Amino acid sequence: MSSGQRKGVFIRTYGCQMNVYDSDRMADVLRPLGYDLSPSPEQADLVVLNTCHIRERASEKVYSELGRLRDLKLERRREGADLVIAVAGCVAQAEGAEIARRQPAVDIIVGPQAYHRLPQLLAEAERKAAFRRAGKRVPGAGVLDTEFPPESKFDHLPEPGTVRAGSAFLSIQEGCDKFCTFCIVPYTRGAEYSRPVASVLQEARTLVSNGAVELTLLGQNVNAYHGEAVDGSTWSLARLLREIAGIDGLVRLRYTTSHPRDMDDDLILAHGDVPQLMPYLHLPVQSGSDRILEAMNRGHGRDHFRRLVDRLRGVRPDLALSSDFIVGFPGESDSDFDDTMRLIDEVGFAAAFSFKYSRRPGTPGAALDDQVPETVKTARLAALQALVAGQQHAFNRAKVGTTVPVLFAEPGRKPGQVLGKSPWLQSVYVEGPASLVGRIIDVRLTDGYALSLTGELIASLEEAA
Ligand code: 5AD
Ligand code: SF4
Repeated sequence: MSSGQRKGVFIRTYGCQMNVYDSDRMADVLRPLGYDLSPSPEQADLVVLNTCHIRERASEKVYSELGRLRDLKLERRREGADLVIAVAGCVAQAEGAEIARRQPAVDIIVGPQAYHRLPQLLAEAERKAAFRRAGKRVPGAGVLDTEFPPESKFDHLPEPGTVRAGSAFLSIQEGCDKFCTFCIVPYTRGAEYSRPVASVLQEARTLVSNGAVELTLLGQNVNAYHGEAVDGSTWSLARLLREIAGIDGLVRLRYTTSHPRDMDDDLILAHGDVPQLMPYLHLPVQSGSDRILEAMNRGHGRDHFRRLVDRLRGVRPDLALSSDFIVGFPGESDSDFDDTMRLIDEVGFAAAFSFKYSRRPGTPGAALDDQVPETVKTARLAALQALVAGQQHAFNRAKVGTTVPVLFAEPGRKPGQVLGKSPWLQSVYVEGPASLVGRIIDVRLTDGYALSLTGELIASLEEAA
């Protein structure tokens, strides 16, 4: 709660890395208004839920959290204070009016394109609260901004600088025009938009000079990037990666999330000739069945994906792949599902995210008749996850005995342990001091488990420094 002039904001982030990035940017916008980050809602004057709408369960979680926050707000009011509740992100965008109806305690509802307007929204919410305290009737519950404003938030947000343990996200693209039939993103995040090259490069340089040795370029369709350069030309993601890779001090470069349709020749080549580009690619395929890929409107078949993988591994033989899979899309038969399992078997993944199909109202998939029963989805998901888990474990074990550079991210669960990431995004636990955090140091991998590895430092710390 308030201490002196400064106030506290607690931001809870759901969903994807775009949201993690946006939460940092909201913190940046709020800082000049006197808000510092609080570790819990109980210690905050303002709570922001940065929400995810991609599957039904994700949005339901938000409503139950809002119930808890309402109780906290009432408690505060009994003490003569207040708690401002804001809902941001994709649920705010998609269900703004519904949120206001279901939970009148919410003060601010703000869509992902309007975060730069948070100061005005807060001022308006505070004005409304003051009226209410004075016993006046205030029309409408909260303050709602889910417009897609003509100005870009990127031009109106403060210069970012959030680098955590040597690593930072950089959002270069937002929105999606692909309209996969299961997906709500084109409706919540809007049309595909690429940030201009100059502002991306400037942000990249700032992050590196603030201590980032690793950058992850973000976008819902990041490899569809086509940013305008100052000379009027259009840069692809490959062109941008090559330029950013040249920034002095940058050691690791990643990008996510990609679409198989946008893996162009130059981007594939970049995986072979840009040493900073890490040998790990998240490339969602969703299904291994041509019939289902077609029904999903993915715009490519299983062979296209297989060929891409072969070409990528042709230029970068140690490339590890991860992917997203949906089981139980409407009409998915046993044989379609077998095609997915065969694809996984043939490609071999280092990790994967897999989901039961979730009906999202307003998407074409939700209107299809032949929805798959829940029990079938559950069984398919379990089988798929078991297959991928085996591949992941084997991938981890195969690295045992090798020495790899690890970027240390945080103290481990056990005292005296530090956790870092290998080039293939594997979690690596090492005995060592917390001072390793933020540094890249060679580690000999000693054991490989289902989800992580253990290793030991090969040089004394003085040498490593
Ligand atoms: N149901 C289940 N999974 C979904 N995803 C997107 N929409 C849905 C849905 N309606 C998954 C996709 C996507 C990931 C981010 O979420 O696999 O790649
Ligand atoms: Fe959704 Fe498809 Fe766009 Fe990805 S490419 S955000 S899955 S519509």
